[in-house]
Amino acid sequence: MKHLRVGFIGAGNMASSIIGGLLEQGMPAENICASDPTPEAIERLRQLAPVGTTQDNAEAVNGADVVVLSVKPQVMAEAAASIREPLAASGAMAVSIAAGITLASLEAALGEGTPVVRCMPNTPALLREGAAALHANGACGPAQREIAEVILGAVGSVCWVPEESQIDTVTALSGSGPAYFFLFLEAMVDAAEELGLDRETSKQLAVQTALGSARMAAEGDIDLQELRRRVTSPGGTTERAIQSFEAAGLREIVSAAIRAAAERSRELAGELG
Ligand SMILES: NC(=O)c1ccc[n+]([C@@H]2O[C@H](COP(=O)([O-])OP(=O)(O)OC[C@H]3O[C@@H](n4cnc5c(N)ncnc54)[C@H](OP(=O)(O)O)[C@@H]3O)[C@@H](O)[C@H]2O)c1
Repeated sequence: MKHLRVGFIGAGNMASSIIGGLLEQGMPAENICASDPTPEAIERLRQLAPVGTTQDNAEAVNGADVVVLSVKPQVMAEAAASIREPLAASGAMAVSIAAGITLASLEAALGEGTPVVRCMPNTPALLREGAAALHANGACGPAQREIAEVILGAVGSVCWVPEESQIDTVTALSGSGPAYFFLFLEAMVDAAEELGLDRETSKQLAVQTALGSARMAAEGDIDLQELRRRVTSPGGTTERAIQSFEAAGLREIVSAAIRAAAERSRELAGELG
């Protein structure tokens, strides 16, 4: 952590969040340099931390051990082309957090044999509560995989998927997942409001219930089905609600939605690739 030097290509929301996490974990600010063509993005980052900044992508790569590609997928080709030569000269590895950009297209743009890790993070990373899945190309060894874990681990939990194609499922599960929970919360709040509770109280109760339940699921080693069973007394209120969900086909609805999102992720990868 103390010796790792990190370059960021793109200094927007995700880069700022990862940089904040790395600094919190003890990385010296002088080990970080971020490039962005937009002066406002650079200024926002400078207000957050005294890291190196530049409008020249090549400068962010010079001296780096790892370069984080944190630009939108639509500009990845241009950004990757701008660092191809300095990256080859420095021997640094690359970590891409862009949705839909495959390892094959990254390697083609950055140079064959470049160690590259592709990640799918999610928006709670902005609060350091993200969930990211990673997949490395064949040029990455254990040391490079560890570096990728350090970078993404600064903003949440990380796990590896053995096949790159599984990134589409990850995108459908945890990438898009925050929106599913927001939708479910919206529906719960609307229902409570219809029953006469005021909206603010409904939201407070629903959101805290989600937080508490997520912590129970994350922190114990009790499986999800058993956690649900413990809240569901025979003949009680929860049982009646669960029966209503099951009768309406909740599992099929969720399965179809996640399949649709994974399919869209494959389509987008095809369009961007
Ligand atoms: N936000 C999330 O929670 C989240 C979750 C999962 C994955 N991701 C992925 O993370 C990546 C970054 O997302 P973000 O939300 O941080 O985007 P963002 O806030 O728009 O940041 C990207 C930054 O890159 C700059 N940029 C554009 N072209 C560039 C170039 N050629 N070289 C260097 N910098 C350039 C942009 O400037 P301009 O604004 O002037 O274009 C912008 O400041 C995306 O690929 C996204 O798919 C984000």
